[in-house]
Amino acid sequence: MNAVASLPLHDPAKAFLTKPKRLFIDGGWVEAISGKTFAVTDPATEQTIAHVPEGDAADIDRAVAAARRAFESGDWPAMTPSDRGRLLWRIGDLILKYADELAEIESLDNGKPVAVARAGDVALSADMFHYMAGWCTKLHGLQIPLSVIYDPGAQYHAYTRPEPVGVVGQIIPWNFPLLMAAWKLAPALATGCTVVLKVAEETPLSALRLGEILEEAGLPKGVVNIVAGFGPTAGAALAGHPGVDKVAFTGSTEVGRLIVKAAASDLKKVSLELGGKSPNIVLADADLDIAVAGAANAIFYNHGQCCSAGSRLFVAQSIFDQVVEGVAEMAKSIKLGPGLDPSSDMGPVVSEIQLDRVCGYLDAGAREGARALAGGKRRAGAGYFVEPTVLVDTRPDMTVVREEIFGPVVAAIPFKDLDADLIRQANDSIYGLAAGVWTRDISKAHRLAARLKSGSVWVNCYNVFDSALPFGGYKQSGWGREMGEAVLHNYLQTKAVTIRL
Ligand code: NAI
Ligand code: MG
Repeated sequence: MNAVASLPLHDPAKAFLTKPKRLFIDGGWVEAISGKTFAVTDPATEQTIAHVPEGDAADIDRAVAAARRAFESGDWPAMTPSDRGRLLWRIGDLILKYADELAEIESLDNGKPVAVARAGDVALSADMFHYMAGWCTKLHGLQIPLSVIYDPGAQYHAYTRPEPVGVVGQIIPWNFPLLMAAWKLAPALATGCTVVLKVAEETPLSALRLGEILEEAGLPKGVVNIVAGFGPTAGAALAGHPGVDKVAFTGSTEVGRLIVKAAASDLKKVSLELGGKSPNIVLADADLDIAVAGAANAIFYNHGQCCSAGSRLFVAQSIFDQVVEGVAEMAKSIKLGPGLDPSSDMGPVVSEIQLDRVCGYLDAGAREGARALAGGKRRAGAGYFVEPTVLVDTRPDMTVVREEIFGPVVAAIPFKDLDADLIRQANDSIYGLAAGVWTRDISKAHRLAARLKSGSVWVNCYNVFDSALPFGGYKQSGWGREMGEAVLHNYLQTKAVTIRL
């Protein structure tokens, strides 16, 4: 615990970090049944900052049973939509009340700069609960006039009821730990589902603090259960659990496939938000100052650990050198340092495993002939720091152009002709999550937006997220949408009621 004592944290975060951690199951705080714990690491120093109970199949069982009880009877199904909305709103308010503490916990656990965690992760998490609070009173069915052609003369009254899908297993990653919990929990609660949330083993802390907030807001016991643990044990147990009606997953495409297999046994509903290799396209007529800064932000935001990262930078041949040199200059000017140091622009990547993965891609890029205009290696010393990297001289078949790196590494690619050359290359990926377009030509912007095979297209901006806007993948980037009205469909099923009058 000395590691925490010496960190530049304010008292609330310090108090949370130093007290014993428990899993949140059935409204109580419990140890793992096995009694096991695992260490949580500060990626900036590689020091242990907490020990957290290591949930496994037995704890998932207990959590699913609690979620089932809470779904079938008690305060939760009896709650009016208005009361449910007020409860969600209160959760949003409490996240804002504890925003500084949450931001410090998030920064320490994940590595991201504390100001970014505060302005981005925490603020958006609160907003997601506030936004979803409004939906509670607006989920309604339709009255549908029937013809029933084989029953002439009869009269019917028919209507639909949107009903919660049931007990939901949610599995989230480490890149936006609190925000991913909010994106998942808020719509599930708005629709009346109950949840077992399996947080990422790299970053369990902010979600456990969120559990305390749910409790403080007055959420009935068992409605949300939060289990920390590893993927192949706790995660797999949740994805295949016969008591779970639906699984919502955010993470790698590889594990997404495992989730689908696990859910196949009893045909659970599944939604998936997976990887990306998103094209970010700068046309020759773009405002280059804005485009260069935007292209740097598209890849370096959150250290490139974004499923939507603009990791393939396509630039019109005539301005290629100017743009990539501009992005490389920006990369070189980024100050690496601990997230809790306010002078840091970029923190470490989340874990040693991620560091090795990203460095493996840097080596593959060099081996296959790509050249680093900026960065290209790990920063020496303690902490999982990777230099922001701009690669040129790439070819379409290179590993660094095809595979998701999930680090601060962009592959820059020149193009000659929009129609003949660019669209095909931009869409040449198994992924289809996001895309960016930088241009002053509004017609080209709309034409490209229609032809890019991705769930989001950003024009003259990038990584813009709003609770009201659906987000999700084409192709192997996923099934279903997060946020907006669209996410409610992940958690609702429609019942048709027919009455012969
Ligand atoms: P991952 O997909 O293995 O982990 C994400 C979550 O799934 C974690 O909670 C993990 O415990 C759980 N999980 C792992 N194996 C599981 C299994 N067999 N059954 C059920 N749950 C399981 O991702 P990881 O290993 O952290 O990162 C690997 C790569 O995945 C990254 O380099 C990146 O390319 C991609 N990724 C994409 C994310 C996104 O936002 N779409 C987020 C995190 C990673
Ligand atoms: Mg994994």
